[in-house]
Amino acid sequence: MIFDGAMISPAALLASPLDRRPGAPPRQRQLIQRLRSAILAGQFPAGARLPSSRTLSEELGISRNTVLIAYEQLTAEGYVVADRQGTRVAALSRAPVRSAPGPAAPAAAAARRLERITQARQPRAGSPPFTAGTPALDQFPLGAWRRALERALRESPAATLDYGDPLGEPALREAIAQHLRVSRGVRCEAAGVVITEGAQGALSLCVQLLTNPGDAAWLEDPGYRGAKAAFYAGDLDVTGMRVDADGIVIPESAWTRPPRLIQTTPSHQYPTGAVLSLARRLDLLERARRAGAWIIEDDYDSEFRHLGEPIAAMQGLLPDAPVLYVGTFSKTMFPSLRLGFLVLPQAIAGATLTAAAEMLRGGRRLDQLSMAAFIGNGQFARHLGRMRRLYRERQAALRDALAAHLGVDHEVLGGHGGLHLTLRLPPEFPDRALAAQARQAGMNPGALSSFALAPRPEDNGLVLGYGNTDASRYPALVKRLARLLRQMT
Ligand SMILES: Cc1ncc(COP(=O)(O)O)c(C=O)c1O
Repeated sequence: MIFDGAMISPAALLASPLDRRPGAPPRQRQLIQRLRSAILAGQFPAGARLPSSRTLSEELGISRNTVLIAYEQLTAEGYVVADRQGTRVAALSRAPVRSAPGPAAPAAAAARRLERITQARQPRAGSPPFTAGTPALDQFPLGAWRRALERALRESPAATLDYGDPLGEPALREAIAQHLRVSRGVRCEAAGVVITEGAQGALSLCVQLLTNPGDAAWLEDPGYRGAKAAFYAGDLDVTGMRVDADGIVIPESAWTRPPRLIQTTPSHQYPTGAVLSLARRLDLLERARRAGAWIIEDDYDSEFRHLGEPIAAMQGLLPDAPVLYVGTFSKTMFPSLRLGFLVLPQAIAGATLTAAAEMLRGGRRLDQLSMAAFIGNGQFARHLGRMRRLYRERQAALRDALAAHLGVDHEVLGGHGGLHLTLRLPPEFPDRALAAQARQAGMNPGALSSFALAPRPEDNGLVLGYGNTDASRYPALVKRLARLLRQMT
């Protein structure tokens, strides 16, 4: 009998042992799934206490961190709530799910898709120090942006409240095309630019417009989780391609089954920071062209180059390159603006643009008009210049603090640009457990292995964002990380 508010025994929690056979799902995932199903099935009442992580880990013979991460995931998903006394079953507002009606096979396929999309998900709650990808929010010129918005509001006729051009406001598409031609060497006209909801909207649009379920697609591994989510959502047959110091590595044998889409971040590989070498760029372009594959060039943070000369986009290297160029204002402006863009290659622009126009609605016109004005009147370029200097200073401060205070063997990857550094750590410091403990300690580094489709020993480390944290804070923050590392040995 399980009582409301009473402790659930480990035996009641897991009627049968976890599957430890080779090839079985990771224990952490098994544990999460069992607890989720039991709670959804109404097996435990709201308020019942889960065993402590120590008790459960001892009973199950698994590491305490595995249990802690499972509890944290269930907390993030709302199945349980954590308080000073421990972890309790949450009060779910609806009746427990019993048997799901409907056809089993499609439901199973959909469940598999959701499971893949959410694999290695990391809870997101604000942007504590080390959160990757967040720009310097408190340095954004809010006053200038407010004036741009007010002006757009004041000067726009009532007709602006209607649906706009589904591909985006012509003024913004023109401003982006010009900016990309000049600063990124992209070959484009405004007509081939589509405004999307951030880079994520552009990635999803590529999948929707150009693929069929089951098509082969290649992702950088480790790579960007947003791209993985978009590819899995399209039921693509995803293969991870390893990344080394010169960017994505595609083995010769892979081309015997060419993909439909190849995702890359050539200017600044996410998360390792590698820059794709010119030789590999040219080879990839040539092979993709021959194979009829499309390369997605996600140029998400290339405006912030810190070392060496700016590297032009891959899209502009050859005329008619088989490249879908993706960009975003999430780093250069701010993430909640949710404005990104896709530049379609001329060869597919006609029918694809017509289809895209049917799928999009042309909203957020005032934001788009303000953004066009911001670029047009030079405020965007000024802001970029200021932020480039700021991020260089922050990166240098983080590097110094790591060298002075981390106290364990590590390798710093990347740093040519962007808003993050990646730290490779020895295997005795398992990164997911470390990242979970860092979150408890008020920091939010990413676990490098959680960016990998199939993590290898070298994928152990931390992704450290430095965009949104003042340079003066790094010594103390790195000392805090060093304490967590020491506790692991
Ligand atoms: C590789 C990569 N692409 C794109 C983005 C930005 O996505 P969005 O424009 O949807 O905010 C990020 C943000 O972290 C990123 O790391």
